[in-house]
Amino acid sequence: MSQYSVPRLGFIGAGRLARCLALSFSRAGYPVTAIASRSAASAGRLASQIEHCAAFDNPQQVVDAADIVFLAVPDDSIGSSAHTLRFGPDAAAHPHGKALVHCSGASPVELLAPARDQGVSIGGFHPLYLFSGDLADLERICGCSVTIEADGTLKDTLTALAIALRCHPLSIPAGGRMLYHAAAHYAASFALCSLAECVALWRTLGFAEDDALRALLPMLSGTIETARDKGLPNALAGPVSRGDTGVVEKQLALLEGLGGDHAALYGLLTRRAVGLAQRRATPPAAIEAIAEAVEESLTRSLNQAAAGASAK
Ligand SMILES: NC(=O)c1ccc[n+]([C@@H]2O[C@H](COP(=O)([O-])OP(=O)(O)OC[C@H]3O[C@@H](n4cnc5c(N)ncnc54)[C@H](OP(=O)(O)O)[C@@H]3O)[C@@H](O)[C@H]2O)c1
Repeated sequence: MSQYSVPRLGFIGAGRLARCLALSFSRAGYPVTAIASRSAASAGRLASQIEHCAAFDNPQQVVDAADIVFLAVPDDSIGSSAHTLRFGPDAAAHPHGKALVHCSGASPVELLAPARDQGVSIGGFHPLYLFSGDLADLERICGCSVTIEADGTLKDTLTALAIALRCHPLSIPAGGRMLYHAAAHYAASFALCSLAECVALWRTLGFAEDDALRALLPMLSGTIETARDKGLPNALAGPVSRGDTGVVEKQLALLEGLGGDHAALYGLLTRRAVGLAQRRATPPAAIEAIAEAVEESLTRSLNQAAAGASAK
């Protein structure tokens, strides 16, 4: 019988995510008992910051010293790592139940099937947060969501762990991770790509990147705040939200004139803006005319973008 009233946690991998989770779980009162990584140095560095936590050379030793093992390695190594772990014949009868969990948003939990075949619960625990590896992560993760894929007792345990991090648990059905992760890019990397597109266009007007970002970031923050307060349709601003067909038409034509894929990107995002405006209780009167102008421009600009790509 384990001496602990809560499950002992172990980590294989001691990178950006493991650092934040292991330290945060420990601070929240969970025993983080074992860490191994590719290099002994990084496992030792993390374990030394956690009371009663041992660094091991071999991931198998983490399995032996913990109830829930977080496989916090790069996605391409999850399957191969899971294949090497042995859980022993009494894994299913363990007081807290043994479990192997990965933290990827994109990779299927099925990669952990070799553990399930040994009677071990398997699951996914994906914090929707970009870990920097800095200590600031421990505070910034509060209020984020953790997307959990698991069944039965493990689901309850992972939910309790998310709440211990002061995160919101989200449940995802099996098989949904790739789409979920692809879509989440829009709130992270693709938000950066939208900023980069603006910076590139402003550069043609002579704006330096630093000046552009100083101008754009407060506007982005304000948009996020408004979305939080009022929801997406009512936070929409700009010519689509006002029903300014003339401005939308002129901007589409201007960007088509620049060549490349500028107008295609603008057109596709404007199509989404039209969709948001249509969700308002009272959409702008001109919304159908704007939608028509966008589709006509997209027909031209997507062909132009495709021709540009095939010419490369
Ligand atoms: N970073 C994020 O923002 C974030 C957010 C959500 C989810 N995730 C997920 O979290 C997981 C880990 O990502 P990360 O960003 O923490 O990666 P990372 O910073 O690159 O760290 C990876 C860790 O895994 C270790 N490692 C690599 N191959 C290994 C192997 N074969 N066996 C044992 N350890 C191995 C590395 O060892 P050494 O230190 O010894 O080199 C390193 O400590 C991934 O599945 C990722 O999708 C990451």
